[in-house]
Amino acid sequence: MDVPYFDLALQYVELRAEILEAIDRVCGSGIFVLGEEVEQFEKEFAAYCGVNHCVAVNSGTSALHLALLVAGVQAGDEVITTPNTFLATAEAILYTGARPVFADIDPATANIDPQSIEAAITPRTKAILPVHLYGQPVDFDVISAVAAKYHLAVIEDACQAHGARYRGRRVGSLGSAAAFSFYPTKNLGAYGEGGALTTNDARAAALARALRHHGQKDHYEQAYVGYNYRLDSLQCAVLRIKLKRLDAWTQRRRYLVDLYRQHLHDARVELLRDLPEVRAVYHLFVVYVDDRDRVRAELAKRGVGTAVHYPRPLHLQPALAHLGYGPGSFPHAERACERVLSLPLYPELTEAQVEYVARSLREIVGSR
Ligand SMILES: Cc1ncc(COP(=O)(O)O)c(C=O)c1O
Repeated sequence: MDVPYFDLALQYVELRAEILEAIDRVCGSGIFVLGEEVEQFEKEFAAYCGVNHCVAVNSGTSALHLALLVAGVQAGDEVITTPNTFLATAEAILYTGARPVFADIDPATANIDPQSIEAAITPRTKAILPVHLYGQPVDFDVISAVAAKYHLAVIEDACQAHGARYRGRRVGSLGSAAAFSFYPTKNLGAYGEGGALTTNDARAAALARALRHHGQKDHYEQAYVGYNYRLDSLQCAVLRIKLKRLDAWTQRRRYLVDLYRQHLHDARVELLRDLPEVRAVYHLFVVYVDDRDRVRAELAKRGVGTAVHYPRPLHLQPALAHLGYGPGSFPHAERACERVLSLPLYPELTEAQVEYVARSLREIVGSR
């Protein structure tokens, strides 16, 4: 049996008629950047997240950059984040001129360990940037308490966690601002690049709105030097169609993860733990296995596509060598990166495919 790691074309089959109609509507309107379609999506996504404001931008990285800027992060500041994430999290910090400072992860969840944050705080620390990795929210109350103690902003990297909840509240509504990515493979994915900033702070939203559009407040009145972070109308037309289905797709992901867990209960793999306070959305289904690269190769021979998120922690990435970290700086993150394996997970996956992947994996790694 072939089980591709990902197949976005499957989703298109279900959506095709609606998407083509929406594309026709946007093309007929003659408005291709920002405009009505973007505004409607912003309203709908803000309501979905339970926040007052959403500012749609052209990527999750742009959203992170703006979220940091509107929190007042600037050159000379430090921002604490996890080393177990995609490079974009640290890049956005560097764009502001600030320095990324890492704190180790909790291996049980693979998310930043809230207990490790306080030790990383210095007089230069301005903000904490936790990542809701793989779709599982971080332990926000603990992070928020540390932030309050030291008067720091908390900005959520929610790029992998659309719709996830912490104590009943959706991510995107927990911190001072949050960033989402709509990269095509995300749980809510555009047909190209896209992202959004969410916040309850009207001033932050207005500033982000101006900065995404060359600092423009009113027509051709440029209050700031900004960026071209505008989002296309076509992407928002697609996102509006998909947003209506997001909760159903998430439910399906959660069901498939339950199935995986049942089938893998006695396999020699370590499953990540969900915090009791969270409702995860499983952007990825990640397990820890020993001898990961061999296991991957064996799975590939059986037709199972897999991926690794991420093979190298950020503090050991050549691009960030100037930060001065070395091997051994964050042992939990380093060990996780040696052992993480992402199994196929998308709403269109069948029960038989999940069973086949789990059975193949159990045969390769053995049972306990
Ligand atoms: C955790 C995390 N942060 C940031 C990003 C950046 O998002 P984008 O690719 O839309 O710029 C991504 C997505 O790839 C991500 O997974």
